[in-house]
Amino acid sequence: MDYYNTLAREYDRLYSDSRYMRAVEYRVLRDEVKEDYLILDVGCGTGEHLAYLRDYNIVGLDISIEMARRARDKSGKFVVVGDVQHLPFKSRTFHCVISFFGALNHVQIERALKEIRRVLVKGGVFIFTLANLYHFRWILKSLFRRGWRDTLKAIKKRRGDIRKVVGGRRIRVSTRFYSLREVEDLLRRHNFQIKYTFATCITNSPLDNLLYKSFLKYFGGYIGAVAVKR
Ligand SMILES: C[S@@+](CC[C@H](N)C(=O)[O-])C[C@H]1O[C@@H](n2cnc3c(N)ncnc32)[C@H](O)[C@@H]1O
Repeated sequence: MDYYNTLAREYDRLYSDSRYMRAVEYRVLRDEVKEDYLILDVGCGTGEHLAYLRDYNIVGLDISIEMARRARDKSGKFVVVGDVQHLPFKSRTFHCVISFFGALNHVQIERALKEIRRVLVKGGVFIFTLANLYHFRWILKSLFRRGWRDTLKAIKKRRGDIRKVVGGRRIRVSTRFYSLREVEDLLRRHNFQIKYTFATCITNSPLDNLLYKSFLKYFGGYIGAVAVKR
């Protein structure tokens, strides 16, 4: 957790250029979230979506106390420090669970999906994005930097480190990447009905607002889904 506790200080500055990704996330939320929902944001980070949905009944959860503190201060919402793999809530509590920008790339996904399903009411909606294994801009960069052999190796491994320098300190976190096919399989196995899938960071421009559900979603930075608990 050292990674996110340290990153918390710089998080909003480091990701201040993510407005096109946020525009797609907000659009999906506007389409899917109903006024009377009780919502849980898992891996809420510094509270981007808690603030966006501040007129709704929404609770945040994050494993990093520094992130949780910032989220509470930014949004004025209730934020719990906890682990998505062991959610501290009663079964069938929430109408909607959201998780954006890769919080679920750092966890045992089977365990997290089981927990998210447990805390959702029947018919409840799960909306999330996860870092994409087949992000074409990453693949192009990697081909230039490391060549095709190492790029193929990295893709096969499905795992990698995200590295940052914060306040002169090097930090890194292990990340598991997913393809859209894998995400669809996981959701079906956990008995979610997929309403639609989408992507963020396809072109990282206003075009993403048009392309987010198109075929190009297979190659965006983040793959997303709107799924309903059966
Ligand atoms: C890349 S940030 C995304 C934050 C936010 N959702 C956003 O869109 O800006 C990932 C967040 O997931 C949190 N996280 C990582 N593992 C977690 C876990 N097991 N349970 C809950 N949160 C976790 C991190 O602390 C971090 O705040």
